[in-house]
Amino acid sequence: MTDFFQALQPLLRTRFIGRTGESFAELDSTNRELITRLETGLELPEGYCLTADTQTQGQGRQGRVWHSPAGQNLYFSFLLHPSTAPETVVTLPLVAGLAVAMMLEEHGLQPQVKWPNDIWLDGKKVCGILCEMRLINDRPMVVIGIGININQTEFPAELQDIATSLALVTHTQANRAKCLAETLSAFEPLYQRWQAEGFAALVSDFTQRDALYGKSITVNQGGKLYSGMADGVNPDGTLRLLLSDGTCLAIDSGEAHLLRTQK
Ligand code: BTN
Repeated sequence: MTDFFQALQPLLRTRFIGRTGESFAELDSTNRELITRLETGLELPEGYCLTADTQTQGQGRQGRVWHSPAGQNLYFSFLLHPSTAPETVVTLPLVAGLAVAMMLEEHGLQPQVKWPNDIWLDGKKVCGILCEMRLINDRPMVVIGIGININQTEFPAELQDIATSLALVTHTQANRAKCLAETLSAFEPLYQRWQAEGFAALVSDFTQRDALYGKSITVNQGGKLYSGMADGVNPDGTLRLLLSDGTCLAIDSGEAHLLRTQK
């Protein structure tokens, strides 16, 4: 069988993202594997990418499990060495989400990015992103972990109403290596722009695809509930929440949970 990582190489339009790395038939979690390697002192180049055909302990946000069946989807993590201040790293999931959205657009679809880091197709989740940072010798090392439902057409009962895949929407099976190459190729120029100009330069790209914009939402911030209208994102990546009294809150993903979204 052709190694997935080797098959990826001629499809990439990148200089460094995904140019080094490995693919595995099975891992516990691509994020965990990459972080373990970093923590044991391995020096890995920027863009180093691990993929797994299946994950036995795929990790989602807030301690959730990421459903990772074999032979159908994409599960991958890649490493960044941003030269920017560590506090800017919170906006990288938004940049990764934009790259996934751009890949889906290459397939003729109209994805939406749901702040802070989900991608939706037809109102259901098609992709989740888990970014983790470690300071190694005072430098931020960021692992961007992405799971994209590509060819899965059947989901466990608890996910049926909330999850979808590329194949469910297009009614065709897609080439996973090509989808990964398209995602990484979309990410690299966005990342270079982010490094040079900050997330502020990408706000309009995000807003064009913002699933929450103009919707009524409820946010839990530090145990206090705020209801209002989502009003896009700020240049620092925080979500703007317009309250009925006219004030605008800047919601930080680290402390906010969306409780309700009206379509
Ligand atoms: C979420 O929406 O909760 C985030 C899900 C992130 C899943 C991906 S799959 C590849 C990488 N490895 C993991 O263990 N998690 C991320």
